[in-house]
Amino acid sequence: MRVEDVRKVCVLGAGAMGAGIAQVCSQAGYAVAMRDIEQRFVDAGFKRIRDPLLKRVERGKMTAEEVEKILGGIQGTTDLAAAVRDADLVIEAVPEKMDLKKEVWREVDRHAAPDAMFATNTSSLSITEMASATNRADRFVGMHFFNPAPVMKLVEVIRGNETSRETVEFAKALCTKLGKEPVEVNESPGFVVNRLLVPMMNEAFNLLMEGVASAEDIDKAMKLGTNMPMGPFELADFTGLDIGLDTMETLHRETGDPKFRPSPLLRQYVRAGRLGRKTGHGVYDYGAP
Ligand SMILES: NC(=O)c1ccc[n+]([C@@H]2O[C@H](COP(=O)([O-])OP(=O)(O)OC[C@H]3O[C@@H](n4cnc5c(N)ncnc54)[C@H](O)[C@@H]3O)[C@@H](O)[C@H]2O)c1
Repeated sequence: MRVEDVRKVCVLGAGAMGAGIAQVCSQAGYAVAMRDIEQRFVDAGFKRIRDPLLKRVERGKMTAEEVEKILGGIQGTTDLAAAVRDADLVIEAVPEKMDLKKEVWREVDRHAAPDAMFATNTSSLSITEMASATNRADRFVGMHFFNPAPVMKLVEVIRGNETSRETVEFAKALCTKLGKEPVEVNESPGFVVNRLLVPMMNEAFNLLMEGVASAEDIDKAMKLGTNMPMGPFELADFTGLDIGLDTMETLHRETGDPKFRPSPLLRQYVRAGRLGRKTGHGVYDYGAP
């Protein structure tokens, strides 16, 4: 499959990432099928796409017709077989659980065209292991988009053990078509960005736990001292403390390296349900979610 031959993209999952990726693909002119397991999740996915776009219309940055065109290019469905059947590329963005992802890929492999390409948006799991659930590990690649996908420029293109050179080149060319910048990464826990970023956030929790500085001052120090647009706690609250903890646990488990040990304070906050903005309370308090 060449990028020029791609007509239809199937996106699995209509959550934070799936909806954003579906929007990006539709904006690039592809026919998109966005599949979730229940209609209410599909509807929520469309709302995630529509609401920020309508704000852009209000601000005069986009026309209502452009928004309709993007939304009109996406077909929402709960029917996996129909979504996958005539897709040239399937991008998976279902929850970060290996067993679930492998089950989804096994089923997708049964319904997809023989030459369709497969990409997973996993943040930390093994591409090689997921690919082994299909009969096309050579055409299976990681495409790690960042949140929010329509805004963030980077895509980490991750090569699993069996991913062919052609598939990596396909994914990189597709990124360019989507208006994104790819970086090529060989499979390794956390890839590049999370391997660097999440341990930094984790260490911020250790600093807070040790009473070295207040949360506000740790954020201020990193914003003003390193020009980060958000401090580590603002970022942790934005992405979800549970997601950060999951990533640290994966890094720790996969490498066995004590430098990746999750901070006890991070663990405690997650156990308390302080997951960040999504629960209204993380390191900071946001009121109702
Ligand atoms: N949120 C982030 O910042 C971020 C960034 C990059 C990558 N990721 C990765 O993207 C993936 C999705 O994360 P998210 O934040 O969008 O999660 P999310 O919970 O917002 O969305 C996941 C969606 O998948 C749906 N789903 C569950 N089982 C499904 C199935 N069998 N088929 C189709 N849909 C199914 C759920 O109903 C839900 O709507 C994960 O692998 C995550 O690690 C997340």
